[in-house]
Amino acid sequence: MRARGSWILSLVLVLSGAAEAADLLGPESCKGCHPAAYEAWTQSKHARATDSLSEAQKQDARCLSCHAPQQSSQGVSHVTCETCHGGGQYYSAAYVMKDAELARLVGLQDPSEKACRTCHDASSPSLKPFDFAESLKAIDHWSVERAKRAARAEADTPAPAKKK
Ligand code: HEC
Ligand code: HEC
Ligand code: HEC
Ligand code: HEC
Repeated sequence: MRARGSWILSLVLVLSGAAEAADLLGPESCKGCHPAAYEAWTQSKHARATDSLSEAQKQDARCLSCHAPQQSSQGVSHVTCETCHGGGQYYSAAYVMKDAELARLVGLQDPSEKACRTCHDASSPSLKPFDFAESLKAIDHWSVERAKRAARAEADTPAPAKKK
């Protein structure tokens, strides 16, 4: 059954300001459709951010605000997909994801340098000041995704000559 009514309701909820409160589905929910991104993320420190804290520090809201910002509200540890991309409750259905505009309308976020800097600020224990371009390279989980999509697009177009 296509739950058309329910997504319209969702849209209404989002537009009426519930976007902030979109429920997190957890990183496992993205894994099936974005296996390469998921794999790359598991290799990053973000995927283990809460593990850097001692048991006492895991109770400390100050530490959690950057090492597990959705711990107290939603019980999700670490810095996950949805910490950066927004809660997936409304955008992660296949037919929404395929529509870049709709996905953004219902909560998908494009993480900006400013968003990184809410955590990577002067108070974080970094030896060097935060360099956005360098840091992006270090968390690359999109190049493989984009290469695959490009390959798919090429496979879908009848190619006159074989390209290597
Ligand atoms: C049912 C499959 C599915 C699920 C589940 C899913 N996605 Fe997607 N996602 C897609 C598809 C399909 C696209 C369109 C791009 C493509 O074809 O690769 C996409 C695109 C994206 C994009 C790029 C959007 C753009 O326009 O630049 C981001 C970011 C993204 N997804 C994040 C997530 C996150 C985070 C989750 C988990 C909360 C998630 N997705 C769950 C299928 C899915
Ligand atoms: C403003 C955000 C922020 C707050 C608040 C914060 N951290 Fe961090 N923390 C970071 C960032 C960002 C890094 C990674 C720095 C880097 O390597 O560039 C980090 C790194 C660490 C590391 C090093 C992990 C490693 O792999 O070497 C430890 C340990 C740590 N934090 C503990 C804490 C504790 C304990 C608290 C609470 C008292 C805390 N942090 C509060 C942002 C924060
Ligand atoms: C620390 C923040 C952060 C986390 C955590 C994160 N992402 Fe991303 N993601 C980004 C940024 C930033 C970009 C865009 C990079 C660019 O455009 O250069 C991006 C891009 C993407 C894309 C776009 C690829 C395309 O089609 O162009 C997908 C899909 C995606 N992320 C999925 C995920 C999934 C799934 C997870 C968790 C397993 C995740 N991300 C975790 C910040 C994050
Ligand atoms: C919610 C807070 C938060 C946000 C937002 C965030 N980070 Fe992080 N980041 C952390 C924490 C915490 C760590 C340290 C994890 C640990 O080791 O415990 C970290 C670690 C890193 C590291 C690893 C540093 C090292 O020494 O290897 C890189 C690179 C990084 N972040 C890049 C980014 C980029 C790029 C963005 C924005 C697209 C971003 N982060 C957004 C909290 C955040």
